Amino acid sequence: MKTSDVSGFYKLSVDDRIQFVKEFSDLTDDEVSILKKNGSLPIEKADKIIENVITTIEMPMGIAVNFRINDRDYLIPMAIEEPSVVAAASNAAKVARKRGGFRAFATEPIMIGEIQVLDVPAPYSAKIALLESKQKILDMANTRSKTLSSMNAGARDLEVEIFEYPYRMMIVHLIVDVRDAMGANVINSMCEYVAPEIARITGGRVNLRILSNLTKNRIAYASAVFPKEIIGEEAVDSIIEAYHMAAIDIYRAATNNKGIMNGVDAVLIATMNDWRSAEANAHSYAAMYGYGPLARYEKDANGDLVGSIEIPMAVGTIGGTTRSIEKARIAMKILGVKDAKEFSGVLAAVGLAQNFAALRALATEGIQRGHMELHSRNIAMSVGAVGDEIDKVVSRMIEEKNISMANAQKILQEIRNKN
Ligand code: MEV
Repeated sequence: MKTSDVSGFYKLSVDDRIQFVKEFSDLTDDEVSILKKNGSLPIEKADKIIENVITTIEMPMGIAVNFRINDRDYLIPMAIEEPSVVAAASNAAKVARKRGGFRAFATEPIMIGEIQVLDVPAPYSAKIALLESKQKILDMANTRSKTLSSMNAGARDLEVEIFEYPYRMMIVHLIVDVRDAMGANVINSMCEYVAPEIARITGGRVNLRILSNLTKNRIAYASAVFPKEIIGEEAVDSIIEAYHMAAIDIYRAATNNKGIMNGVDAVLIATMNDWRSAEANAHSYAAMYGYGPLARYEKDANGDLVGSIEIPMAVGTIGGTTRSIEKARIAMKILGVKDAKEFSGVLAAVGLAQNFAALRALATEGIQRGHMELHSRNIAMSVGAVGDEIDKVVSRMIEEKNISMANAQKILQEIRNKN
C-alpha cells in the first residue's frame, strides 16, 4: 500500500520530492522531465514562495487591447486558460471606446479586521468599555505599521457587534485604511496585537483574529456606453433582458458573475495578486442583499446601452508576491497603474467589459460558435496536432461543424496519411 503520510517531505530537495511523487503516482521518465522543466521563475525561488514545491506551472498570458479608462489608454495583461476571454474583453473595450471608453473610480481603501470575543460576562457594558478605549486600541494597532501611520492611514475606527445566537458572541471590527496594500498582512498583525487588550477590557476570551475578505467599504466602480449603432438596437434590449434575468434568478446571477470574474481574475493572476480573496469578496458582496449581478444595464436618453459595475476590490500595488515574481512585476509595468485605487478601477472596467461581451454574445448568436472555434485549437493540440497541422485540423472541424476530440483525431490521421 502506498502512503501519502510523509514526515519531513518539506525537508527533501526538489529532486527528491519529484522522485517520491514519481514512485507514488507512477510518473513516467518523460513526465518527470516535464516537471523538471521550468520557466522564468527559478525553482529555488518558487521553493521559497510556497511549501513542498516540485515544479512551477505556466499558463498563457495575453494582452487585452483597446482599453481606454478615464481618458487614458491601457494594455491589460491577462493570464487565463480559457479561450475567448482576452478576445472578448478587447472587443468590448473597442465598442466602449466609441463613446470615450470607461469611467472608473474607487473608494478609499478601507478594510475590516475581525476579532471574535467569547465568554464575555457582561457584553453590553463591555461594548461601552471597548468604545471608551477606542483610541488606545487604535494607537496600539497602529504601532504595527509605521508606513501606514506615517501616511496618516492605518487603524481608523472600531465597531462592536453582539450576537445572541447560537450563543452570545462579541465581534469587534477594526476599520483600517490600508492605502496601496492589499491589506491582509497588516490587518492580521493588528488584530493579533490588540486581541489581548480586547480580552482584558471585556473580560472575555478571544478566538479568531483575521481580516474580512468582504470589503464593503473598498469598492471599485466603472461604467461605459455601448452605442446602439454598433451593437444594434435589438441587442441593446436583449442585453438588458439578460441582465434582468440575472437580477431575478440566482442560477443565472452566479454564471453572470463568473463571467465578470473571468476578466478580474485573469488580471489578478497575471499580476500575481490574490484572486481567491477577490472571488470571496465579489460573491459575498453580491449576496449581501440577496445574491445578484454585480453589473447593471440600462438605456440612456439616446437609446444606447449603458453598463455599470460596482464591485468590492481589495488589491494592492505594494507588498504581496507581485515583486518577487518577475513576470508579475512586468505585467504590473505593462498595466502601468500608479496606485491601488487606479488598479481597482481598471479591474472594475475589465469586469464590466467581460460581462458586456458575454451578455452580447449570449443575447445574440450564443457563445458556443466563437467559443468552440477557439476551443478547437486546444482540441487539435490535445490529439497531438503540431505546427501547421493545428490550423488544418481546426478549419476542417469548423467546416464540418463537428468540433470534437474524435473528429480531430480522425482529421489528423487523414492529414498524416496523405503526407
Ligand atoms: C464562461 O466562462 C462565462 C460565461 O458563462 C459568462 C456568462 O454567462 O455571462 C459566458
